[in-house]
Amino acid sequence: MSDQQKSFSSSFGAIMAAVGSAVGLGNIWRFPYICGKYGGGAFLVVYLCFVFLLGAVLMMSEFVIGRRSQHTQMKAFTSLAPNHKGWCIFGLLGVIASFFILSQYLVLSGWTTGYLCKAVSGSLASLGTDATAISAYFTTFSTSPLQPVIFLTIFSVLVLVVILGGVQKGIENVSKVLMPILVVLILVLCVRSLTLPGAGKGVEYLFSPDFSKLSGEGVLAALGQALFSLSVGMGVMVVYGSYIPVSDNIFKTSMWITACDTLIAVLAGLSIFPAVFSCGFDPAGGPGLVFCVLPNVFNTMGTAGSIFAAIFFVLLAVAALTSAISLLEGLTAWFCEHTHASRRLAAPFFFLLTTALGIVFALSFSTLSEVKITGYNLFDFVDRLNSIYLPPICALGTVIFFGWVLPEKDVKDELSNHGTLKIGYYPVFRFLARYVAPLALLVVLISGIFA
Ligand code: PHE
Repeated sequence: MSDQQKSFSSSFGAIMAAVGSAVGLGNIWRFPYICGKYGGGAFLVVYLCFVFLLGAVLMMSEFVIGRRSQHTQMKAFTSLAPNHKGWCIFGLLGVIASFFILSQYLVLSGWTTGYLCKAVSGSLASLGTDATAISAYFTTFSTSPLQPVIFLTIFSVLVLVVILGGVQKGIENVSKVLMPILVVLILVLCVRSLTLPGAGKGVEYLFSPDFSKLSGEGVLAALGQALFSLSVGMGVMVVYGSYIPVSDNIFKTSMWITACDTLIAVLAGLSIFPAVFSCGFDPAGGPGLVFCVLPNVFNTMGTAGSIFAAIFFVLLAVAALTSAISLLEGLTAWFCEHTHASRRLAAPFFFLLTTALGIVFALSFSTLSEVKITGYNLFDFVDRLNSIYLPPICALGTVIFFGWVLPEKDVKDELSNHGTLKIGYYPVFRFLARYVAPLALLVVLISGIFA
């Protein structure tokens, strides 16, 4: 392996890689439907507050911990606070969270890859506009014991190839190419969707504030989504933080990533709902929206619809790929640091483990559908683990460590690049990191566990 470089080569590369991690299925598949579900504009306001006041603060904390220590999740904690070694447990939790999230992410990514192939080969178009046939097609696909496994494996191999390429030649170069393509694709879809007759209804669904739909559950969903979407609470950004060039301004970098992530989530909503309403469909939640409603929307557009379907699934696959890359990189870097194994050994090792577990989760819709843990099938069980428990606990530990254990000198030094940058925002930032973020996370955690 020629590329042993443990740093991104430029600010642009660092931002693209981290945006690649942040922009994923969470933005394009999940954000639009939960935004519509919990009151459109009302949800958006709460989401924006969480993203900028908490998510961005957490991201900056993870970047500071990573760049300051030049270590991965666990060693970062122990090296920065040698007298408080116990905090590394949160690093370990992050590793466990990344492992389970990647395995689960691979299932949806496999479905996306499958639908991309079906959109390109024309088999989606051949279903016409029969909603029942399209839903049945998805059920047959997702409950087949073979197809999801094959596509999941293809996707996983792609992730592995990029990781084997290394930090600069693999992750950074791929992100620098794919992220701009993603922006162009989403803009094309957005323009198409917004210029369809009756598109206004979709825009209204997404943005007009309905505070009656914004329940406590909606507020919690907004916070959970903010963490997941910015890829914080799993230590992945600690690892990426350790690759950020020393001359970069962590505050600016984090703001760029946060802004891009939010913008792409909103653009995804604007590409999906106007088209859904214009074609006279009901917006659905969960996999139903992307795999059952959208193919029908595309099929009502005739021949051009096949092209838009292909564009959409390429977009989704690209978003999923760069996120999965960051998860596998987090695991690989952690393993290399602790065992001194090479990337060439560590990456395939985690590739095998997460792919195998991903296959088990994929089969929980077919062969293994009877296997239940505490009443949930395997996929739903791990989904709860990944949304309610692991990331909020890990985020809480990280932010308390950052605000209360890490010496303030380290934080200021890292944010100001050793005194060369102005950090006028620091008092507000510190207040958010010490009080607001831990409290908010504690509330989410408790209500998530007892709800
Ligand atoms: N942020 C990604 C998304 O929105 C998911 C992700 C979470 C990626 C954690 C990496 C780490 O889909």
